[in-house]
Amino acid sequence: MAAAPTPDMKKHDLVVIGAGPGGYVAAIRAAQLGLDVACIEKDPRLGGTCLRIGCIPSKALLESSELFHETKHTFAGHGIVAKDVQLDLKAMLARKDGVVDALTKGIAGLFKKNKITRYEGLGRLAGGTQVEVVDAQGQLSARLEGKHVLIATGSTSSTLKGIELDGERVGTSTEALAWPAVPQHLVVIGAGAIGLELGSVWCRLGAKVTVLEYLDRILPANDAEIAKEAQKILAKQGLEFRLGVKVTGARKDKDGALVTIEGQEPIRCDRVLVSVGRKPHTDGLGLEKVGIALDARGRIPVDAHYATSAKGVYAIGDVIPGPMLAHKAEEEGVACVEHIVTGYGHVNYDAIPNVVYTHPEVAGVGKTEEELVAAGIPYRKGAFPYMANGRAKALGANEGKVKILAHKDTDRILGVHIVGARAGDLIAEAVAAIEFGASSEDLARTSHAHPTLAEVMKEAALAVDGRALHI
Ligand code: NAI
Repeated sequence: MAAAPTPDMKKHDLVVIGAGPGGYVAAIRAAQLGLDVACIEKDPRLGGTCLRIGCIPSKALLESSELFHETKHTFAGHGIVAKDVQLDLKAMLARKDGVVDALTKGIAGLFKKNKITRYEGLGRLAGGTQVEVVDAQGQLSARLEGKHVLIATGSTSSTLKGIELDGERVGTSTEALAWPAVPQHLVVIGAGAIGLELGSVWCRLGAKVTVLEYLDRILPANDAEIAKEAQKILAKQGLEFRLGVKVTGARKDKDGALVTIEGQEPIRCDRVLVSVGRKPHTDGLGLEKVGIALDARGRIPVDAHYATSAKGVYAIGDVIPGPMLAHKAEEEGVACVEHIVTGYGHVNYDAIPNVVYTHPEVAGVGKTEEELVAAGIPYRKGAFPYMANGRAKALGANEGKVKILAHKDTDRILGVHIVGARAGDLIAEAVAAIEFGASSEDLARTSHAHPTLAEVMKEAALAVDGRALHI
């Protein structure tokens, strides 16, 4: 059989590898700025981990499972009688798939509108700013040359020594988004965002959930006081936390799974979710072809403008240092291409929020109290509980609080941390405040509509100066 002809070299201003939130947003922004953009994605659906197997499907299931749980347990408190509430898991999963499908198609539409050339296959660097596309059959399907190349290949789930992922009994978030039946007993390894969000989903649908965490606290990236409060609330909902335990293995065992723990009895269960972090995705990318060396944690080192050590090659998102968050990748993608085209482009990492979509949500921006103490920065702290807010009472959302940390001398807001209903929406005000260099006094003097949960933010800002009104 004759060898397949080598494809002709196609030229573009920018070649983006990966169509996750970092890559596809960078591609759109570059097209807006007038560049001829190509984007390579191995999956037929655009949107990356976030849209296909991460943020979006998990939020769909969090919403559905919360509705199910509320209908069963809290409607009665509102005087609503809901009898014989049943779970149709198949329909719930189908709805989630529908949400994902609509959004990934939406991105394909945005690509068309912005005249971005899409290449389906695996992108790999081929020297200089050349990139090859390899199709699902392993054939070279396209050869591209960009004036600039942007790596936005994201991350994949990490695992631990001793864990035998089989995709059925012992799996990662990918499988936990599609289990066909509610586990009787789910063991979650790792109390980060993924473990708590998906642990919550299956707990609400009826599973017994045990969360095993190596550290003596949950949500290690969040403010410790807020994480502790979140743990109390989630424990009341039925999540069983075992902190300070070192998991040494997990494997399929007969018709269930076995999780082994250092110095303790093993746990038998029917499903295991491994959520111990994610690692940068650089396999098969051909970094060696352009002389890019990874750092000790497998990340691509970049300068302040996302340039790698290879001329014309940039990287953003989960493959570079920093929190692995979709919106962080988006900001970096925009800043990177804006800098390429205009010479300007910057991300304020002090104003990147993080949200954990449990019920209630946990959100934060800026420095945690521990970080301020460690850095010796003098601060004042104001906190206000949801319990004392009228709207929270009406909603039945009494749990949680807002905590604001402001510089002791300048009053500039340094960090805002929330556990409570709609924390993920409330944090936006704090992000804007930090972005504009606001003081706690600025927030305290800003009118907040009554009755809203946002008033908890205002009261916490007043509390920084010891003058909260409603407590
Ligand atoms: P994570 O890094 O947030 O948490 C992993 C947890 O596993 C840590 O608490 C760690 O101490 C624990 N752990 C590690 N080894 C262990 C062991 N041997 N035994 C028991 N516990 C162990 O990782 P996660 O939750 O898997 O999330 C991965 C990434 O995805 C994170 O960067 C996260 O921020 C991001 N993500 C963000 C979401 C959001 O913003 N809502 C949602 C989902 C993921």
